[in-house]
Amino acid sequence: MNLARIALTALLPLVCALAACQGAPPLFTPERPLPMDEHSHAQPNRVRVRHVSLNLALDFEARRAEGAVRLELVRKDPSAPLALDARGLEILSITGSSGGVRNYNLGAEDAVKGSALLVELAPQDTAVTIRYRTSPGAEAMQWLEPAQTAGGGKPFLFTQGQSILTRSWIPLQDSPGVRITYDAAIRAPAGLTAVMSAEQLGRDADGAWRFRMEQPIPPYLIALACGELAFREISNRSGVWAEPSVVQAARDELVDTEMMIQCAEALFGPYRWGRYDLIILPPSFPFGGMENPRLTFATPTILAGDKSLVGLVAHELAHSWSGNLVTNATWRDFWLNEGFTVYFEQRIMEEVYGAARSDMEKQLGRADLEHELAALEPWQQVLHVELGARHPDEAFSQVPYEKGALLLRRIEQLVGRKDFDRFLRGWFDGHAFESVTTADFLEHLERELLADRPEAAQKLDLARWLREPGLPDDAPRASSALLAAVDAQIERWKAGAAPQELDTQGWVTQQWLRLLDALPEQLTAEQMGALDRAFNFTSSGNSEIVCAWLVRAVRADYRPADAKLHAFLMNVGRRKFLKPIYTELAKTPEGLRRAQELYAKARPRYHSVSTGTLDKLLAWRG
Ligand code: BES
Ligand code: ZN
Repeated sequence: MNLARIALTALLPLVCALAACQGAPPLFTPERPLPMDEHSHAQPNRVRVRHVSLNLALDFEARRAEGAVRLELVRKDPSAPLALDARGLEILSITGSSGGVRNYNLGAEDAVKGSALLVELAPQDTAVTIRYRTSPGAEAMQWLEPAQTAGGGKPFLFTQGQSILTRSWIPLQDSPGVRITYDAAIRAPAGLTAVMSAEQLGRDADGAWRFRMEQPIPPYLIALACGELAFREISNRSGVWAEPSVVQAARDELVDTEMMIQCAEALFGPYRWGRYDLIILPPSFPFGGMENPRLTFATPTILAGDKSLVGLVAHELAHSWSGNLVTNATWRDFWLNEGFTVYFEQRIMEEVYGAARSDMEKQLGRADLEHELAALEPWQQVLHVELGARHPDEAFSQVPYEKGALLLRRIEQLVGRKDFDRFLRGWFDGHAFESVTTADFLEHLERELLADRPEAAQKLDLARWLREPGLPDDAPRASSALLAAVDAQIERWKAGAAPQELDTQGWVTQQWLRLLDALPEQLTAEQMGALDRAFNFTSSGNSEIVCAWLVRAVRADYRPADAKLHAFLMNVGRRKFLKPIYTELAKTPEGLRRAQELYAKARPRYHSVSTGTLDKLLAWRG
């Protein structure tokens, strides 16, 4: 520990007493040198951005945001220019805080990283103000037509920053090691409400929506949504935003959120962000959920009507510790965000809904991982992944999620839950508001857990877990009695029982998902029809079940599902669903033609995150 950190630690009680904010104070450790981030042009060890003030007007017709950003700087190397990330931005002017315009150079655009924006600083500059506008194709922003919303009457905008997209709507140091605080003023057309991943301060005199985030966060967590929105309270610190026609159903589905927060706090320490709200976005949102601080962004496809898919809320909430409080310093360390979060999610689910539910989810998660491993290249199967110049998205798979969580469960198994919980709590407290690497994890693990447990240490082959492909033999297996009951019914079906003769009474979503996963790969259209008549899969309102069923429908050429397939692909933009369905279609020449035809119609409705994946899959050539 260096002197600066010792000094900070000694001062901490005083700082805490002085800071009249919720949770821990904004804790800056700008002294800590940051590791090299291959995915950013910034040189934060020379000049570092520490606060971002946004002032933007939203133009839905032109699909642009225009205005200014003021960046406050910490200058370690007084002779160094300010190096920023930008992508597709039109820079209008740059001024320095000590007065006057500044010279800058916007470099050529790298396909992965975008452009470097180098700004010459005057000796006394402690901030710069950049006037700019975004391009209509900004990767982070999705501008929706009214027809893509539930209400149909107003347009909608949302942003998605993770992993390296924030630079397409704000010029800044877009590296997860560079924590910043921010404030924002957003001007939007009348009748629309703007919300951000920050404290909401209401509207100012000239009608701009004001926000403030006082805790230092990585830039990928700056997020904005704007549309016709209503709010329903869940508890005094939690609630849900959604379009008016969706908000009541959303509130009913998510009513257990406060219970989840309390469980999470009991496990791993106080929730340090004040409020925890969610926003249910229109269905083109490319992810299930995104852990934007104070305001999780979520897909409406989790609204199943029976809380069966709220594991996603546990997951995004868990990121308030793993990811938002303690953040991967580079995208090579992404497993620290997602592996910890899946582990934590499973613990919350066990606490709130019981072990029977979380055991099912663990078993299904491992099965998903095993299926996916078979299709991944060796480098993609590694936890501490070697990205080099590749886009972080190329390593996106179940590996950082499920293999990461399995490693943590393996350690828990070796040392016992009590000690492991103490270890995790120490990890979150000890690194709160810091960005961390896999090396930091190893150091903490060694010091806090393995040093006095030579037997456990000896059984744990960390190099195998972190640096090699595949799943180590000691990866824990969850076994769920409820899923075993499904397997027993599948055996009866294989032995000749008709679908309606199977004992499916009281089955929950996870059991149906097991059925759809464990039935023989190849079914005939007749078998599909019999299953559909017995269990109504095509008309299911559960998006996970529908997705698994549509993959099978395509494989079996089961045409009665065509209308549903078409509607689903036109309406839903969640990549996790689109990818397997289009992949299945693309397996035959006829299917590929169909996929390309559907895709041509649906593509304008998808976010860049989804089209980025699907363009490759379907050999899209505009
Ligand atoms: N942070 C991720 C989403 C993400 C990852 C966006 C990488 C961009 C790059 C989020 O927490 C997540 O994992 N969402 C999952 C949900 C989940 C329950 C595993 C999703 O969207 O499906
Ligand atoms: Zn996640």
